[in-house]
Amino acid sequence: MQTNPLPLVLLTHKLPEDWIASLSGKCRLLIGPIDATFLDRHLDAHIDEAIGLFTLLTIPIDTQLLHKAQQLQVISNMAVGVDNIDVSTCTKRKIPVGNTPGVLTEGTADLTMGLLLSVARKLPWAREDAMAGKWKTWSPTGWLGTDLNGATLGIIGFGKIGQAVAQRAQGFGMRVVYTDPNRVSSNSGIHLSLSDLLHQSDFVSLHVPLTKETYHLMDSCKLALMKQGAFLINASRGSVIDTEALFLALVQGTIAGAALDVTDPEPLPQDHPLYKLPNCLILPHIGSATQNTRRKMAELACENLIAGLEGRRLPHCVNPEVYEI
Ligand code: GLV
Repeated sequence: MQTNPLPLVLLTHKLPEDWIASLSGKCRLLIGPIDATFLDRHLDAHIDEAIGLFTLLTIPIDTQLLHKAQQLQVISNMAVGVDNIDVSTCTKRKIPVGNTPGVLTEGTADLTMGLLLSVARKLPWAREDAMAGKWKTWSPTGWLGTDLNGATLGIIGFGKIGQAVAQRAQGFGMRVVYTDPNRVSSNSGIHLSLSDLLHQSDFVSLHVPLTKETYHLMDSCKLALMKQGAFLINASRGSVIDTEALFLALVQGTIAGAALDVTDPEPLPQDHPLYKLPNCLILPHIGSATQNTRRKMAELACENLIAGLEGRRLPHCVNPEVYEI
């Protein structure tokens, strides 16, 4: 008796086997290398037969690639953001796209507080100086930073992550203001217009998804609205900030500093001038990088993928319009 072959799934990056154990017996996997920044050639050769795609945020799933994937029935992105995927083409083709919301909220909010504290209290630079032998005594005027207690934190994008950051910041005695196009009502902060928020905040933290509307949201005009002593924090997507405008703002002293977990481009090339600035902290996109969070993201991505392969509604689908008849 002939049995139907299992559906082919392209997993763009090698992941720990126990994170994706639930896929066993559900599909045939072709797996790309852990450090892939584009769809591996070996996988690309099979894109026309793929029923499912399990992707990370570094792989652009654009119109061209989707055109080659004529059998595709589901895309599961192991990320909450889906800006790497041409979702509108997927919707037209009735391909559901899954993401992993919720499980990375706390981890990303923790990292945001880490960025904020690091840049406010000059932690990376103090460490560097200590290691370089510049710690001669308890210096009354050395490495002076900025207080969090009493400072105003402006949160742009008050979804799950923005709100989790607000709760943490209140624990540090900060006054929280926020802006969000969806005008979320919340008692963890005061709603302001974007320009009022930029005028009032000592720290501005970005938590918006990358869309056409938020691309270069922080351009030279918006940076100029910030207080001169203010800091900009970004744990969302690099291109929400105009990198060149930020560089100039940091060099010219328009703002005091920046702490970035995400950059544009990503990764930021090693010789990029931003690395050389004494008031800019850069991390390699580690917002969700805890053991637990990454495992949960992978498990959720597997659930989405399996649902799609089995023709069921994805537990977390960013384009539920595909289910409208
Ligand atoms: C990480 O940046 C994510 O979108 O999950």
